[in-house]
Amino acid sequence: MQVRSPLLKVEHIEITYKHRQQKKVIIQDVSFTLYQGEMVALTGKSGAGKSIVSHALVGLLDKGLSVTKGQILFEGQNILQFNEKQLEKLRRDHITLMIQHSLNGLDPIRLVKKQMLETIRHRSLGSKKNREQFLHYWLAEVGFHEPDEILHSYPFELSGGMRQRVLLAMILSLQPKILIADEPTTALDAVNRERVLRLLKHLQRNLGLTVLLISHDDHSVKKYADRVVQMNEGGLLL
Ligand SMILES: Nc1ncnc2c1ncn2[C@@H]1O[C@H](COP(=O)(O)OP(=O)(O)OP(=O)(O)O)[C@@H](O)[C@H]1O
Ligand SMILES: [Mg+2]
Repeated sequence: MQVRSPLLKVEHIEITYKHRQQKKVIIQDVSFTLYQGEMVALTGKSGAGKSIVSHALVGLLDKGLSVTKGQILFEGQNILQFNEKQLEKLRRDHITLMIQHSLNGLDPIRLVKKQMLETIRHRSLGSKKNREQFLHYWLAEVGFHEPDEILHSYPFELSGGMRQRVLLAMILSLQPKILIADEPTTALDAVNRERVLRLLKHLQRNLGLTVLLISHDDHSVKKYADRVVQMNEGGLLL
């Protein structure tokens, strides 16, 4: 049997909200593991704490929230001990979070090309031509047959499903090890929902991307995920 080493290990985390004298435990004893190249779904009712857990995985908890117990190990290192610079590197090079409602994250009136080039500004990819070709590659990877046309569009000219794929291409251009997609399909109609899920599956299989797919729609994710972790009002349902 092949022994796989975990890429991300979440161990017994507790997340607490603190405001002045007030203190409330929001997440209790959540543990799960992601292995290289698999797709795991994190499901559970609205308010169970899925988004908060995903924010914790990349060190982006809102003010007042903090991890008060447990550890989050990325390739064996506890990210809870990372400083801001290390967390920035983690988010840039290793774990990308596609936040819930991230379709709003694309500026509707700035050219797709400008926004995509901005995303890869830290990478040493050579000439302007090389950079554009790199973007073409990722746009083609998410299913666009005319990548150049997409690069020269404004997001407001694209449909919701197309914008979601542009966002995915943008994220993939960072070549992360882990993609966390928080409700990537809720803003989409049924046809585009299936399309985006199929695309994520394709990327996982073909690029070896590790995907944490967050959704409260456990029916559709069960079809695509290799494993399902179910959260239940602040904890895990076992
Ligand atoms: N910034 C915050 N400060 C304090 N509490 C918060 C904050 N954000 C969310 N919460 C609380 O934490 C709990 C979990 O919220 P979270 O957004 O993670 O749920 P979710 O499982 O992602 O739900 P949904 O399926 O609707 O996206 C909720 O009870 C919510 O009220
Ligand atoms: Mg959420």
